[in-house]
Amino acid sequence: MKNIEANKVEINRQLEYIKKVAKINDGKNYTYYILTMGCQLNENDSEKLCGMAEQMGYTKVAEMNDADLIIFNTCCIRENAEDRLFGKLGEAKKVKEKRNSIIAIGGCMMQEKNMTDKIHESYPFVDILFGTHTLHKFPEDLYKAITTNKKLEDILDIDGEIIEGLPIKRDDEIKASVTIMNGCNNFCSYCIVPYVRGRERSRAPKDIIEEVRCLAKQGYKEITLLGQNVNSYLRVENEKGIEYEKYEGVSSFATLLRAVNKVDGIERIRFVSPHPKDFTDDVIEAIRDCDKVCKLVHLPLQSGSTNVLKVMNRKYSKEQYLNLVEKMKENIPNLTLSTDIIVGFPGETDEDFEDTLDVVKKVNFEQVYMFIYSRRAGTPGDKMENQVPDNIKHKRFDRLKELVESQIEKRNKEYVGTIQKVLVEGKSKTNENTYTGRTDSNKVVIFEGKEENIGKVLDVKIISEHMWYLKGAIVNG
Ligand code: SAH
Ligand code: SF4
Ligand code: F3S
Repeated sequence: MKNIEANKVEINRQLEYIKKVAKINDGKNYTYYILTMGCQLNENDSEKLCGMAEQMGYTKVAEMNDADLIIFNTCCIRENAEDRLFGKLGEAKKVKEKRNSIIAIGGCMMQEKNMTDKIHESYPFVDILFGTHTLHKFPEDLYKAITTNKKLEDILDIDGEIIEGLPIKRDDEIKASVTIMNGCNNFCSYCIVPYVRGRERSRAPKDIIEEVRCLAKQGYKEITLLGQNVNSYLRVENEKGIEYEKYEGVSSFATLLRAVNKVDGIERIRFVSPHPKDFTDDVIEAIRDCDKVCKLVHLPLQSGSTNVLKVMNRKYSKEQYLNLVEKMKENIPNLTLSTDIIVGFPGETDEDFEDTLDVVKKVNFEQVYMFIYSRRAGTPGDKMENQVPDNIKHKRFDRLKELVESQIEKRNKEYVGTIQKVLVEGKSKTNENTYTGRTDSNKVVIFEGKEENIGKVLDVKIISEHMWYLKGAIVNG
């Protein structure tokens, strides 16, 4: 795990750079804009970048046009992200010409050499490029860019230590994300993440529990534990005998859930993403026993075909997935499930795709995140010769979407008339008098409420359903 002393030295170095930049910026009322392009881990990284930027004297603005510091936190999970970044860089160039803004690009895409080469070549006005392993050095990079006026690249292709103690500015006041591990060791054959995020390494139990306690003190009610494969938390450390400080009996994902469940003030615990192959009985029991752990579990399927799953390197079959779902449903009362599915992976036949539809019908997911397979350079999937033509991918995607939407419609109808525990998140964006919250199963509910309801879990009777939200009325509170 991490060397505590080295961590302290590094964090102190960066805190010094924060002070230096803050001094340079003093009295200048500088602003920053950040665009977060990726997943929840990427969002959590952005919250750390915001924390650092604000301590260095920048105030957040919503428009890139008004920013003295422009940060892009990139993602490369699918193809379209590249075009989007290049479009945004065109805009950023104009802003830089006008107000001499500093432009910084970080995140997963910067771990791809062809991308950084392209930026050097075609977008030479970009000031800082930083990777996923050097996020914590943002203050140092920014200081150097300001004081030397030189373009800076700070990207490591080996795994960095997890640096604790960075400032953080969170987006929300009720819900917070806590990253519990970095990297991924699974190498699913379609996926770029293991190449850009490096090897799996878990944060120390103490750092996580103390962060959650601190969030509870600040009034946060819902915690989402984040990682690419959360249910293998501490597995690498346990297998390799890498030492970590024992804390509150935490030695696995199941024991972590139990420890977080004990933190006073927290009402709800969610986690993304677990891997079906690592869903051990102790995790099922922990979900069942822990009253704060939501009974909605995200269980990425990817494909319902055993053949495709094998080539995807997922390490479970259709039957094993369905058996796991059965076991979970038997053991966890009121369990609901959501999933991720990729259509059009190389070699996927009509029959394979029917297997995916079959699993979707059988499991009856609460929510399905559907993706069309996207080739990623450097992954085994990209080298496979039997790529599925675009028109077939799209046809399959539409069929899956139709099935999923009809299932969601049906499920939504079942909510009407029931009373749901809803965590009130705030005023709804479109109507002054209505509030929004979510059920345990993560459905959005809109209802008439009062300011003091925010942050409370209330009983709400569901009155009507719409595709993406439910309408309700408060029963108590
Ligand atoms: N670690 C998580 C998810 C990581 S990425 C997990 O294993 O579930 C989020 C989702 O993006 C994946 O679950 C997958 O469905 C999708 N995805 C990943 N690579 C993709 C690719 N090359 N093309 C299309 N979708 C992809
Ligand atoms: Fe990608 Fe698979 Fe790792 Fe998820 S588990 S991040 S899909 S390689
Ligand atoms: Fe997340 Fe995209 Fe990176 S999905 S881990 S930001 S490639």
